[in-house]
Amino acid sequence: MSRSKEAAGMALQRKLGNPTKNKEKAKQTNKEEVSSTPSFQESTYHFFHGPVEISSFREKLLLWYDTSKRNLPWRTMAALEQDINKRAYAVWVSEIMLQQTQVATVIDYYNKWMKRWPTLQKLAEATLEEVNEMWAGLGYYSRGKRLHEGAKKVMLSFNGQMPRTAEDLQKELPGVGRYTAGAVASIAMGQATGVVDGNVTRVLCRSRTIGADCTSPVVMEALWRLSNSLVDPSRPGDFNQALMELGATVCTPKAPRCSVCPVRMHCRSFEKVEHQMKTASNRLLGTSRLEVSPVPDIESCDYVGRCPLCLPPEENWENDLGVMNFPRKPVRKQARLERTLTCILEWEENDGEAEYLLVQRPSAGLLAGLWEFPSIVLEGKITEKKEKELLLEQLETLLDGRGNFGEIQYVGEVVHVFSHIHQTYAVYCCSLAETPGLVKKEAEDDVASSRWLTKTAFQKAAVSTAMKKIFQLYQSKESQSPKNCKGKKRKTSTDSEHNMQRSHKLKKNKQSNTGQKQLSILGIFGKSIKCEISSGP
Ligand code: ADE
Repeated sequence: MSRSKEAAGMALQRKLGNPTKNKEKAKQTNKEEVSSTPSFQESTYHFFHGPVEISSFREKLLLWYDTSKRNLPWRTMAALEQDINKRAYAVWVSEIMLQQTQVATVIDYYNKWMKRWPTLQKLAEATLEEVNEMWAGLGYYSRGKRLHEGAKKVMLSFNGQMPRTAEDLQKELPGVGRYTAGAVASIAMGQATGVVDGNVTRVLCRSRTIGADCTSPVVMEALWRLSNSLVDPSRPGDFNQALMELGATVCTPKAPRCSVCPVRMHCRSFEKVEHQMKTASNRLLGTSRLEVSPVPDIESCDYVGRCPLCLPPEENWENDLGVMNFPRKPVRKQARLERTLTCILEWEENDGEAEYLLVQRPSAGLLAGLWEFPSIVLEGKITEKKEKELLLEQLETLLDGRGNFGEIQYVGEVVHVFSHIHQTYAVYCCSLAETPGLVKKEAEDDVASSRWLTKTAFQKAAVSTAMKKIFQLYQSKESQSPKNCKGKKRKTSTDSEHNMQRSHKLKKNKQSNTGQKQLSILGIFGKSIKCEISSGP
């Protein structure tokens, strides 16, 4: 690195401070701590009562974290990496992967990712196709794409220097919201700023009996205020991770383990449960008065019935739920039902390896840029005969009328639930009786790319989990009745067609050592077929 670049980096670092230096701030209070007095009619009941309670909460939580935390690869990177940009990058990747994905799933992806692209620069040099391949199976594919765009931006616009505050991270980097910005700034840069994710929401709502809809602006604002007031300025990254870790391993959604919770003495929900149990046991023992010890009253909200953070008056605390009364979320909208026809088109040379036709999805929207078997989204139910006709029409368009297709066979159904779509794939297969015609067209606006992939290449390609499930189903059916698709011919080709196709075959063989070939064909995406309702297949 040139001196001027390094000097610029150091100046930025001085501006921000670093995690070690921040230890000196241990005895300071956070700005938000002072200003954590509610801004509207809220009871202090839902907040913390000043520095003593806050210090105790921090101390107990961090002590627990130091002895109980999981050993995770991004934590090692954050602790050992000296270079602030590499450290921030390593944390950024982990935080993006951890959004909507379980820790256990992320570990493997994270290790592979960091091995392949250990720095921002390496990631910026990758292609989106490579990023999508690496992300295949993690879901929510726009996350990988944004990370890639972000790395390119840091390299091009900021000379490889990551923005150094939560505010700038959020402002400058695509896909970085308030949570990710807070996590990167606190864990990698030592900024005393809080985070609110699903785990933190659960811990804080339980701890402060916040029972109003936790996705509402008023509750979100209160949670950010709470989290910013709690974060320990001496170890902000560890504190935030400890709060998340507690939510992930102890204060879990359906089986909270309050007996081992290090901050249960600061938990108003736990206090409520204990109070309720003591009252109930006194009631049982009530016949012999001597054994009954008085149950002291517990604090409650000053604004019951009109507090914007309490359980709404029409939703009561349920004894059986205990601390699980919190948090409350609105009932989720039901996922939209969709049915998609998909066809595995296979061709195989005499003794060669089979190959399958994959088409690339558009560069924006659901599963952007990923590869899939030729598919058609339906808007209603139609007969199996009609489904086959539609698929054949599409295959013919894809191969520009040159395919010599066998019979289209029904394979079965695969269901895949995306966050907002309950997708049923009606899976068909078909084989090419002869070599496919490889038609090259000049790029047009509605052009999609297609490829023939071997099984091995398919498994490494940028394909969604749904496509993998579809291929698995196809293979299991094939192993039960081999030649299901291969055996049935629909048409035979003429000699002249045959000869023309052989010349394509030679071209294809030349390309085949990579296991994948690309051609441009007429795009068919967004083509949603309107169907009359009839009895389905
Ligand atoms: N969830 C998301 N990021 C996390 C982290 N750094 N530690 C624990 N849980 C997390």
